[in-house]
Amino acid sequence: MYASIILPTYNEAGSLPRAIEALRAALSGREDWEVIVVDDNSPDGTWQIAQELGRADARIRCYRRLDRRGLSSAIVDGLSLGTGERLLVMDADLQHDTSKVPELLAALDTADVSVGSRFMRGGGTGEWSRRRLLLSRLATLACRMVLGLRTSDPMSGFFAVRREAFLKVAARLNPRGYKLLMEMLTLLRVKPVAEVPYVFSPRLVGESKLSGAVVWEFFLSLAELGTRNLISARFLKYALVGLSGVGVQYASFYLLWRYVLGEEAGTFAAIGTAALSNYLANNSWTFSERRHSSTADVLRGFGLFVVISACGAFINQSVTWYLQHLGALLPLAMAAGIAVSTVWNYFLNLDLTWKGHARPE
Ligand code: GDD
Ligand code: MN
Repeated sequence: MYASIILPTYNEAGSLPRAIEALRAALSGREDWEVIVVDDNSPDGTWQIAQELGRADARIRCYRRLDRRGLSSAIVDGLSLGTGERLLVMDADLQHDTSKVPELLAALDTADVSVGSRFMRGGGTGEWSRRRLLLSRLATLACRMVLGLRTSDPMSGFFAVRREAFLKVAARLNPRGYKLLMEMLTLLRVKPVAEVPYVFSPRLVGESKLSGAVVWEFFLSLAELGTRNLISARFLKYALVGLSGVGVQYASFYLLWRYVLGEEAGTFAAIGTAALSNYLANNSWTFSERRHSSTADVLRGFGLFVVISACGAFINQSVTWYLQHLGALLPLAMAAGIAVSTVWNYFLNLDLTWKGHARPE
């Protein structure tokens, strides 16, 4: 088969039939293609529409995912199902220019990956808000600096890849958020990337699922990819939460506990408050897909978290003293203590407090 077109969908009932119509028109010269709609059990019944379209034309297949959510993982699943020599990914909401599909596919004659780009001559973003434009530019620049990617639009959701190239890296992809292309380009180390300009159209129906959380996720993954997985995005989240705890401890002490309990007991209460806030933040963010939700789980989890942190504090203190004893300057000895205990706390919490099988996003 020549090509598989992957359409990830979530609540796109209003656009999907037209998107497929447009694809049919764009590919009218050939017969040997298929469309794979990967729908995450959309409440608006997009998957039903896809299935109906499939009954009328067997080249249209639908994978209704019941156990997962997320754009990148939907794309990876679709790419894995594709039987075409060439795989193409595009949005199902008509914001990508379907007339460029043949060009993107043809570009794979000489490249492993071809990217539909909004940020090159001939491309454009249509009516984007200032904030979105700025974020997108920032993300592109960061990709360039951290990962050395040469594409003008590494965040594009409109791209094509040879199946054999995709299969080479498929198992190593960590499909989260919206940054799949960036990850694939990094793993494939494709140097010259074929690019095809297109203008991003405004959305006609439905709404964007790009959220603030997705943007965060992007910058954390960049660190992960940039350090070749040495620093995981999860660890960064954990460290950021730890840092936020310092703020909580000071704030709750000076604004509250000092007046309620006095200096001595207040210090204690402030430490407890910081521990609680760290636990809650880790539970809802760092380990979100393993979240404790029942009261019993939360109580047990918090207890374990406190015990691990207490051991961590002891290790922190011991390392600091030991290094000081060896003649290290206090600030450096302290930094080492913090680093060692953070790593200790992280791995124990990962393996004990939030252990178990990750529930899918
Ligand atoms: N299966 C599935 N699961 N599909 C999803 C999900 C999900 O959780 N979230 C979004 N989609 C589908 C949408 O239905 C749509 O077809 C496509 O993915 C793009 O989602 P949008 O929410 O419309 O993204 P956007 O238009 O705001 O973002 C565009 O720009 C980004 C970078 O700037 C897209 O082109 C993205 O692909 C691109 O990364
Ligand atoms: Mn869109």
